[in-house]
Amino acid sequence: MYDKKPEEMQERKPKREQWNSKIGFILAAAGSAIGLGNIWRFPYIMGENGGAAFIVVFLLCIIIIGLPALIAEILIGRATQLNPVGAFKALRNKPLWRIVGGMGIVTACIILSFYGVVAGWSLGYVVEAVSGKFYEFASPDAAREYFESLTQNVGWITGYFAMFMLLTMTLVYSGVQKGIERGSKIMMPLLFVLLIILMIKGITLEDSKKGLVFLFKPDWSKINHESVLLALGQAFFTMSIGMGAMLTYGSYMSKKDSIPSAAVKIATLDTLISLIAGVAIFTALFSFNQEAGAGPGLIFHILPVVFSKMTGGFIFSIVFFILLSIAALTSTISLLEVMVSYFVDEKQWKRKRAVLFCALLTFIFGIPNALSFNKMSGFTFFGIENTFFDAMEFISSTIMLPAGGFLIAIFVGWFWGLDKALAKLKSGAEELFKKNYWIIKLWKFSLKYLVPVFIFLILLYSLGLIDKIL
Ligand code: PHE
Repeated sequence: MYDKKPEEMQERKPKREQWNSKIGFILAAAGSAIGLGNIWRFPYIMGENGGAAFIVVFLLCIIIIGLPALIAEILIGRATQLNPVGAFKALRNKPLWRIVGGMGIVTACIILSFYGVVAGWSLGYVVEAVSGKFYEFASPDAAREYFESLTQNVGWITGYFAMFMLLTMTLVYSGVQKGIERGSKIMMPLLFVLLIILMIKGITLEDSKKGLVFLFKPDWSKINHESVLLALGQAFFTMSIGMGAMLTYGSYMSKKDSIPSAAVKIATLDTLISLIAGVAIFTALFSFNQEAGAGPGLIFHILPVVFSKMTGGFIFSIVFFILLSIAALTSTISLLEVMVSYFVDEKQWKRKRAVLFCALLTFIFGIPNALSFNKMSGFTFFGIENTFFDAMEFISSTIMLPAGGFLIAIFVGWFWGLDKALAKLKSGAEELFKKNYWIIKLWKFSLKYLVPVFIFLILLYSLGLIDKIL
């Protein structure tokens, strides 16, 4: 019996065995957090929502809401060592909480279905960079037109989307997390260094000041109902919280490691990368007199122009898009893993079957997202002026993630029982409990009151309900 158990476990949950080192968890979790959300989504959403003021709201959301929620989510995972549905079931077997877990699996599918499309663009841009295409652009407008001509090509956009899904599948299937971990160890710092170089290049461009002003001088008139909600959604999106990815990764975490310290490291690294990407992109953007609110294509038509103007730009552009693809890949595997772990744990499916099924389902569901840039660009969703892609991105990231975070906080703060939660949190964090207990107290308070109340208020505010009530 005793001998058999680890084997069984290994067969059922092969990856839980592999992330037993502290650095392994941090790398995997940071890999999930750092991705297109930082380099693609943050700059374009910030650009559309007024720059600096948006950043301030975003940072507040990270510190007051995101960080306590991140700790809670990792904790639920580590305490139960299960997938999102199984974890809630194990702690409180009531329909509502099982639905919360299920909501996470659905959200993972929706996010992956549009994220995979954009990840495909970065893969496609590796090929463009190698071909030297960026040097042919006479103006930034030409770069934009070229980007549009690519995304209007159904074969290009669905082809690269399919390729990216295949890559994600291969990694999740073969469970080479160790390879990814080892890879991330080299690639992530490289991405960091490259972004810093791009940032310096951006700052030294002519007229870069305009970009810096846009980034660091808040214009509060730009903040409205929707941008506050978008900032909250982005805080959740960029840290991969609110849908069970961190819960699933937390389920592979050792009880000897400190969750709060890991969470702070993940949040800091993630935020830093977003800010550096923001500076790199907006200094360049303003110096080339481009539109800040250019939308989802932003980095794909701004960065090639910067590369074409810098020494060594050819090599830099290739390395950049390869690293961007890798950063995206370490995020997509965490999204697919959430779905797969559910079928493997709860439905006792073979890993292979689960991977095939989930990836195929996501791909099919993602086709309208890919078509949103061409065949379906005129399609409006529920009569709102949005493409299918915009609608999916908004619903999943801006509504479902904060809603998930709200429910996770309520769950830990009010239903699981804070005492039980604290007992689990303590393991690995004994030092913190002994020396700085106020931090734990603050976390308790945040989770019980601040996080749910803030999310609730922001949701009301953005729906315009607060104005009606007060
Ligand atoms: N955090 C990832 C990024 O910023 C996206 C993501 C969201 C990944 C939710 C997993 C879960 O790119």
